[in-house]
Amino acid sequence: MPEPVIVAENLVKAYPVKGKPDFLAVDGLSFEVAPGESFGLLGPNGAGKSTTMKMIGAVSTRTRGELSILGLDPDRYGPEIRSRLGVVPQQDNLDGELNARENLYIYGRYFGLPGKVCAQKADELLAFAQLEEKAKSKVDQLSGGMKRRLTIARGLVNDPRILLLDEPTTGLDPQARHVLWDRLFRLKERGTTLVLTTHYMDEAEQLCDRLIVVDKGRIMAEGTPASLIREHSSREVLEVRFGSDANVGVADRLRGPDGLSSHDRVEVLPDRILIYTEDGEKALAHIVETLGLHPMTSLVRRSSLEDVFLRLTGRSLIE
Ligand SMILES: Nc1ncnc2c1ncn2[C@@H]1O[C@H](COP(=O)(O)OP(=O)(O)O)[C@@H](O)[C@H]1O
Ligand SMILES: [Mg+2]
Repeated sequence: MPEPVIVAENLVKAYPVKGKPDFLAVDGLSFEVAPGESFGLLGPNGAGKSTTMKMIGAVSTRTRGELSILGLDPDRYGPEIRSRLGVVPQQDNLDGELNARENLYIYGRYFGLPGKVCAQKADELLAFAQLEEKAKSKVDQLSGGMKRRLTIARGLVNDPRILLLDEPTTGLDPQARHVLWDRLFRLKERGTTLVLTTHYMDEAEQLCDRLIVVDKGRIMAEGTPASLIREHSSREVLEVRFGSDANVGVADRLRGPDGLSSHDRVEVLPDRILIYTEDGEKALAHIVETLGLHPMTSLVRRSSLEDVFLRLTGRSLIE
């Protein structure tokens, strides 16, 4: 096994609260990231993802626990660590007054790279980000997806060993997300270590080799997307709608003696019933043919990380 590039052990970030015990935004996270791995933190708003990323990025100090980035302690080696990381923060912080190319150039200079190298890097990264035609456009004139790609390009100026991406596609439309995923996938193929946070289960499934599911500053589960689904959910999910007022009553019946197999799990959401089962069509046939119940809509799908999260926390990833 190669040396991990990130090691966190019982990592804690506490924020003081007046007249009360400290609030633990990060409450004892332990994980390791291997070189070349694409590692994710999946969790809802407020889970502590950004706080963790800031500690990894050596811009926020930890309260307790151990943290090592590229073998270095961020408490002692902040500048060295920052010079070897690429960072894509949750909020874009590009310079709106400058054009796209200048943003890359200036950032390279900030890392102390010679002007000629910066110019070459800027052009190379504009091509990578598919922004060559926008090189001279002021950042303020770029779309959300373009700004995000430019921020990623900027994060690559110093040829980082690790790229940190905090919610890379939040707020983007589906088309812009796919363009971005494609770029991130290329980085992954080139062997760049990616650490990303997201509250989108499809993003985690697409991009992460391995991930931790985080809620309220704690790890709920860890594994590959496939292993998490295998461990914490069924193969298929049947979604049925009987109308807002009828769902609870129907769910009781499904759980009852003539209901579904005892291996199937029934979960009621405000607008629909989820049935966790190995064979969705078979469960549907039982509901319609044996029980004589007729859902307004029905859908059979594979289990996703969203289902894993629901199982582990009783809540949805996106509130
Ligand atoms: N500077 C701060 N002071 C106090 N509380 C904070 C601060 N930053 C974040 N928090 C709180 O810590 C928790 C985790 O925040 P954050 O790491 O931003 O979550 P996420 O990125 O997963 O949405 C939230 O409840 C947030 O309100
Ligand atoms: Mg965040």
